[in-house]
Amino acid sequence: MFHVFVLKIFFLQYHRLAGHEFSRPSRCLPPDESMTESLRTCYLYLNQTSRSFAAVIQALDGELRHAVCIFYLVLRALDTVEDDMTIPLDKKVPMLNDFHTFLYQDEWCFTESQEKDRQVLEDFPTISLEFRNLAQEYRDVISDICHRMGVGMAEFLEKKVGSMKEWDQYCHYVAGLVGIGLSRLFSASQLEDPEVGRDTELANSMGLFLQKTNIIRDYLEDTQEGRAFWPREAWSQFAGRLEDLAQPEKLESALSCLNLLVTDALHHVPDVIAYLSRLRNQSVFNFCAIPQVMAIATLSTCYNNPMVFQGVVKIRKGQAVTLMMEATNMSAVQTIIAQYSQEILHKVSLTDPSREKTLHILAVIREKSALSQSSLRSRTHHLSPMYLSAAMVLAALSWQYLSTTAAQAQGTSDMQGP
Ligand SMILES: *[C@@H]1O[C@H](CO)[C@@H](O)[C@H](O)[C@H]1NC(C)=O
Ligand SMILES: *[C@@H]1O[C@H](CO)[C@@H](O)[C@H](O)[C@H]1NC(C)=O
Ligand SMILES: *[C@@H]1O[C@H](CO)[C@@H](O)[C@H](O)[C@H]1NC(C)=O
Repeated sequence: MFHVFVLKIFFLQYHRLAGHEFSRPSRCLPPDESMTESLRTCYLYLNQTSRSFAAVIQALDGELRHAVCIFYLVLRALDTVEDDMTIPLDKKVPMLNDFHTFLYQDEWCFTESQEKDRQVLEDFPTISLEFRNLAQEYRDVISDICHRMGVGMAEFLEKKVGSMKEWDQYCHYVAGLVGIGLSRLFSASQLEDPEVGRDTELANSMGLFLQKTNIIRDYLEDTQEGRAFWPREAWSQFAGRLEDLAQPEKLESALSCLNLLVTDALHHVPDVIAYLSRLRNQSVFNFCAIPQVMAIATLSTCYNNPMVFQGVVKIRKGQAVTLMMEATNMSAVQTIIAQYSQEILHKVSLTDPSREKTLHILAVIREKSALSQSSLRSRTHHLSPMYLSAAMVLAALSWQYLSTTAAQAQGTSDMQGP
């Protein structure tokens, strides 16, 4: 049986988690004379496949920005192969496994895809050319992550997420590896300490937290389209079939299952705090922190919320913009995390089966937030005001676009579809 797996990566959480398009890259991507023709084409593809990300990536600095752009396009191409139901399994599996080798083949391309983003496969030589123009440190990271992700995708093509451990494994392949890859790129660029790239456990948690939040929130959309990402080990305690959770008479069971999964996702928050505390560069910090605070806000909205089984759960636009503007230093992020943990705490019911576990992890999170507060002050000095104001401008622009394009954004989904 073929199964559509949507790669909802890291990058796209701005749009996906908030449920809105934030800005138009046409404004944020001025023509850059120093870029080669093919690199400009890559940014064009980036724009076309993810308008939100194209804007956000501008926050990163030169060399790192190009590396992240190419990293993104390579993974997008891999994901397009994985999603394409017209490619038979016996062809798709070797393609996924070998995808990283195509990076070093000048001419490799794939013209038979019917997917929306097929252009990244059709013109893969442009992307692989720019890949080969990157410094070796960047190339090694991108190629390694592409290899491991391809192998993981091939493994999950024919199997559903069963145990909680498999849930972690699946999320590792599609999101944890992105966190690990990005962290290694940050270190390779020397904007961050080597330790950021070496500590794969923390980087993995960054991806898992986003991915699980997405999977939890998208229950209805995914089940309606025949995709199942909620782990069987969780839902089988409360229902015979995953789809049954959407039945109104099953609401209590559904909420129990939901709260169990939210509690599981919350276990990544201490790692997220530890990871973000380590970052030194403002542009990298903003890039990493914003999706994480969006995720905790989303998770808090989802907790014990019947809407997860009835419609679309979104955080409010104003709330999303406020988060983007505020999440520029560690103490602000701590405060945000503490606030949303508190919000969840108020919603924990006396009868919820996961109650004890939820209370426990919330207590741990509260402690971690408080503990690292003291070690923050010393670091925040050397954050340049330039970056702070750049973040403000980005947020202000976003706000402006949100007001004018909110309606139209509903229809122009980046990564909504399979
Ligand atoms: C970005 O893409 C949009 C359509 O998706 C297009 O209108 C716009 O001109 C593009 N901008 C650049 C700089 O490519
Ligand atoms: C972040 O990186 C940029 C680009 O290298 C650099 O100009 C800036 O000073 C860095 N900021 C910090 C706080 O290290
Ligand atoms: C951190 O960010 C918050 C909100 O943006 C701001 O009010 C606060 O002054 C900042 N703190 C430091 C130490 O920069």
